[in-house]
Amino acid sequence: MKMITSIQEMMRESERLREEKKKIGFVPTMGFLHDGHLSLVERSVHHTDVTVVSVFVNPAQFAPHEDFKEYPRDIQKDKRLLEKMGVDILFCPDQEEMYPEDYKTFVEVHGFQEKLCGRSRPIFFRGVCTVVLKLFNIIRPDTAFFGQKDAQQAVIIQKMVKDVNFPVHIEVLPIVREKDGLAKSSRNAYLNSRERKAALVLFLSLKAAERCLKNGEKNSSIILAEIKRILDSEPLAEVEYVEVVDPRNLEPLKRIKDRALIALAVKVGKTRLIDNLTIGV
Ligand code: PAJ
Repeated sequence: MKMITSIQEMMRESERLREEKKKIGFVPTMGFLHDGHLSLVERSVHHTDVTVVSVFVNPAQFAPHEDFKEYPRDIQKDKRLLEKMGVDILFCPDQEEMYPEDYKTFVEVHGFQEKLCGRSRPIFFRGVCTVVLKLFNIIRPDTAFFGQKDAQQAVIIQKMVKDVNFPVHIEVLPIVREKDGLAKSSRNAYLNSRERKAALVLFLSLKAAERCLKNGEKNSSIILAEIKRILDSEPLAEVEYVEVVDPRNLEPLKRIKDRALIALAVKVGKTRLIDNLTIGV
């Protein structure tokens, strides 16, 4: 596995690969890799000619009061894991090269970035879209892989590449969970043992929603009430939002017809966790 930190070198390398007619698969990450990330990597390794994984904790998607500095990092372990998976290139750009002092350009997806997580994190998706489009320009992948864990992010990235006509195929892969059901996340590392137990309530509430749906319930407000009832039963959990939306445009749905995304964000102690359930997607 080649490790590249220079943007120019990465651009030269991807040009060389394109000349060789290689199909490039790309998995953008912020590192501290777990099985959720690795499921995307595995898919890329098996379905493309060359896999590039980026590890970059993107300052543009953290608000000043958020956890940019504390965000967990372990590049040596990430390197070992990626090497073992058969990744070809690990791209770890420098913050100063990605965002020099005179950096001025940002990408926004209006009408999407303000919804769900965007309400409490108003600059988050602007930071995500900006870094992802920069990485796409540098790497020029044929296919890029994202996790359904960050459902809103996946919807917004798909909208962005469509709107700016970026020639890349976006593949979205299912949520990978711990044995008990908690969605894997780098931020789970923040949870103490009491909080870790409490965090299971996110998954349990979505399971209850699934049962409602199986019983034929179509009314969003009834499903939402059931989810909230379960979340509220956990004293360490503080609900930020729970919503039933159309996965195409993130608009709230009063009734579930064909497709729906049930998305939630909950604080457990100081740690903000997200999870979701998709219907018909
Ligand atoms: P990060 O949180 O490191 O996640 C990288 C990718 O892994 C994302 O596409 C995310 O949805 C996916 N992922 C995380 N946990 C997962 C799980 N339990 N199951 C399946 N996939 C999972 O998302 C980001 O980084 C950043 O916003 C980024 C896109 C890299 C831009 O900075």
